[in-house]
Amino acid sequence: MPVIDIHNHFFPREWPDLAARYGSPNWPRIKHTEPGKAEIMVGDRFFRQIYSACWDANVRLSEMDRDGIDVQVISATPVLFAYDRPVEHALDCALLFNDAALELCAQSKGRLKSLCQVPLQDIHASCKELSRCMRAGHLGVQIGNHVGEKNLDDPGIVTFLHHCADEGAAVLVHPWDMLGSERMPRYMMPWTVGMPAETQLGIVAMILGGAFDKLPAKLRICFAHGGGSFAFLLGRLENAWHHHPVARGVCDLPPSQYVNRFSVDSAVFDERALQFLVGTMGAERVMLGSDYPFPLGEHRVGTLIRSSALTPREKDRLLGRNAMEFLGFDASAAGATEQGPPIASQAEQLTYSSYLKVPELLDLQEPQSTPQHHDELLFIIVHQTYELWFKELLHDLDAVVANLHAAGENTNSRDEVYESARLLRRCTEITRVLVEQFTILETMLPTHFLAFRDKLEPASGFQSEQFRELEFLCGLKDEKMLRYHRPTPEAHAQLERRLREPSLHDALFDALRAMGKLQVQNGATERERFDARARAILSLYRDERNNRDWIDVCERLTEFDELVVSWRLRHVQLVERVIGARMGTGGSAGSSYLKLTLDKKFFPELWEARTLLTER
Ligand code: HEM
Repeated sequence: MPVIDIHNHFFPREWPDLAARYGSPNWPRIKHTEPGKAEIMVGDRFFRQIYSACWDANVRLSEMDRDGIDVQVISATPVLFAYDRPVEHALDCALLFNDAALELCAQSKGRLKSLCQVPLQDIHASCKELSRCMRAGHLGVQIGNHVGEKNLDDPGIVTFLHHCADEGAAVLVHPWDMLGSERMPRYMMPWTVGMPAETQLGIVAMILGGAFDKLPAKLRICFAHGGGSFAFLLGRLENAWHHHPVARGVCDLPPSQYVNRFSVDSAVFDERALQFLVGTMGAERVMLGSDYPFPLGEHRVGTLIRSSALTPREKDRLLGRNAMEFLGFDASAAGATEQGPPIASQAEQLTYSSYLKVPELLDLQEPQSTPQHHDELLFIIVHQTYELWFKELLHDLDAVVANLHAAGENTNSRDEVYESARLLRRCTEITRVLVEQFTILETMLPTHFLAFRDKLEPASGFQSEQFRELEFLCGLKDEKMLRYHRPTPEAHAQLERRLREPSLHDALFDALRAMGKLQVQNGATERERFDARARAILSLYRDERNNRDWIDVCERLTEFDELVVSWRLRHVQLVERVIGARMGTGGSAGSSYLKLTLDKKFFPELWEARTLLTER
């Protein structure tokens, strides 16, 4: 997984004298002081010391290599926003820096991507510039957390954010123009105190002002510096929302319900803070952001996340996976294209994790309960484990069908018969595990299941496509069961295919017919056909010396049949233990319905043959 830093800044090496260009004072300018070093001045006032990483792609790339960063998403800095200037000047300034950003990216072999800036004091001009920039190759936009007195719930800004969502543009919100600056003239307090408050204000305004209720869920928006003081003070906000009507704003839900609507970066510089942030926001909503190459940024980018006690899955998310989703681009593909050599070369080596797709696997559990019920994870993992084993069973049973088919084609060869028996033994061992696995789920108290059961409806085991496939593949075909798969057309089509295809049951008796063991008269009734099949099995058992391999196949099939009935029985017991006689979420009568399935057998002829055997 490529490592992506979504919050860092650039300054072009040169830019025009904006004060002269627009005829107004106090525009930012760059003053080169010695090779590789410069000062940003605002008018005649010193603003910040910077160095060549701000404008030199090679310096940046070598520092990215040093820190193990594959991709940086660069943005200009808020001092260039110009939201308080005439719109034509702010737009011209935006055009200048947006194009400069793309020029820097073009020198990076695909490792630098950019966010544009817009003249947010004018929504129409902002939407237009955003669209232009998206076409030109920017991945989104960086905006300030307010425009003068307008917060992010301002109707115009909401319109702009809507446009970002429609354009698929990622939005990074950066604090700027800090409140209370007049009381913080020293010690960089506007940065250390004002910025976190500004960011919190941006988020709170969006929540309480109802902006998230109006905006589509597809909007991808991230707040810099870990979201400022938001996460730490969410409890305070929530308490106020519940207990002071005036603190409620106009939002539909309590504030905590909106944390899934935005992301934050990881620039919090303290492991406990990072852990807390991940705990509050969820590992899906925190992304590596460094503020590089400024003095207040992370000095070895990525170290905080890498050295933290977060799980490998969480680190993988924070370091790159979340950013790929946020930016809507595939960073690994970007590096491998015309822009140069592939990025993340270490990520290309096959590892335990990449081979087994461990991060993806560990990311596949999405509990529905809020707050998350402890036992829901177990419920999900047990079901997912069953589904994985169902997949293996289908894989092996398909191979058994193919082998039995081949055995029927060449009745002199025994290899396929042995291979069928060998694979069937695997199937019985898997099914034995499946029977046992229910005990794990039985460690969940009925009260615990009921605490989140309502979140599951109308999902039901009836919709396990693979379970139904197994039944159809083995020969128990019931077209009526297809109705549970109407919501998932692919599953429906797959089951229809299974209905049409020869089953394991068909393959067994076709092979016996080819061997001359099974004769059925034309026009025979279903009962007569059944009896003929049972007699074919009987004939195998009666001549043990010549049919050991086939008898082994039959024994394995019998055992498999037996174990599936055991599975059904243990499932019924589990259901009674957990929900008693309640109805199922799939609409059946629950355990009383499931008990009716206990008589189902895949190979009834194998059992009938036992009745037909006589003592010697
Ligand atoms: C708390 C645990 C469980 C409960 C309460 C439960 C309940 C039920 C109920 C009531 C049904 C009947 C259909 C309906 O009306 O929804 C059903 C069907 C089914 N369940 Fe479960 N179940 C549980 C766990 C599992 C597990 C772990 C699996 C593993 C895959 C599973 C697989 C199935 C399957 C395949 C069916 C369809 C059976 C058939 O049609 O013969 N269930 N379940």
